[in-house]
Amino acid sequence: MAVAQDGKQKESSDQNFDYMFKLLIIGNSSVGKTSFLFRYADDAFTSAFVSTVGIDFRVKTVYKNDKSIKLQIWDTAGQERYRTITTAYYRGAMGFILMYDITNEESFAAVQDWSTQIKTYSWENSQVILVGNKCDMEEERIVSVDSGRLLAEQLGFEFFETSAKDNINVKQTFESLVDIICDKMADGLETDPAASTGTPSTRLTDNLVPTQQSDCSC
Ligand code: GTP
Ligand code: MG
Repeated sequence: MAVAQDGKQKESSDQNFDYMFKLLIIGNSSVGKTSFLFRYADDAFTSAFVSTVGIDFRVKTVYKNDKSIKLQIWDTAGQERYRTITTAYYRGAMGFILMYDITNEESFAAVQDWSTQIKTYSWENSQVILVGNKCDMEEERIVSVDSGRLLAEQLGFEFFETSAKDNINVKQTFESLVDIICDKMADGLETDPAASTGTPSTRLTDNLVPTQQSDCSC
């Protein structure tokens, strides 16, 4: 569950950042969500499968245009029995990594349902990247790159094939998600004057956490 270890706890309680983005990784069990986050946060990989119980999170700070952005990345359990817990965390998420496994047809077929879950439980401005993980397993591939790309196009999502094992496109996926969230925020500020004046509504910019804010739950 959402218990950070000492070092991570220290980083997560660090208030020295310009913005905070809440991100979620979702998708069927065993597609590689935890491995993906483990690779990104610790640059490590293990072939052992320990299915996530409920939800967990990691924190990582990235820099863009001289601003520090604290990423609070939630790793959700893919197993159906945790769905009520995990969907409760969708609200307020600015970005989603929706993952399937390129060697697992069922996980790909489930993408549409996961997309519906995002629409149902998250803010309408949240950004999504579709990720086909385990691209190192070319010989066992069942879902073609083109099928993944086509589905992403239909759903209006960005698309990457990745490997948590071989460290392919992991960092790029997070960077791309941060970029599209920043672009969306900039659009909001340009087209919606209320976005800079603090008028209440469900916008992406509502989720910005300025430096020194003390109500962060982590
Ligand atoms: P839940 O927590 O049950 O939702 O699963 P998960 O999506 O977090 O899957 P997890 O990261 O635990 O990975 C499942 C299995 O796939 C593990 O045995 C991993 O080692 C393996 N795996 C994850 N990513 C990759 C990858 O990129 N390539 C290969 N070959 N195996 C991977
Ligand atoms: Mg997991």
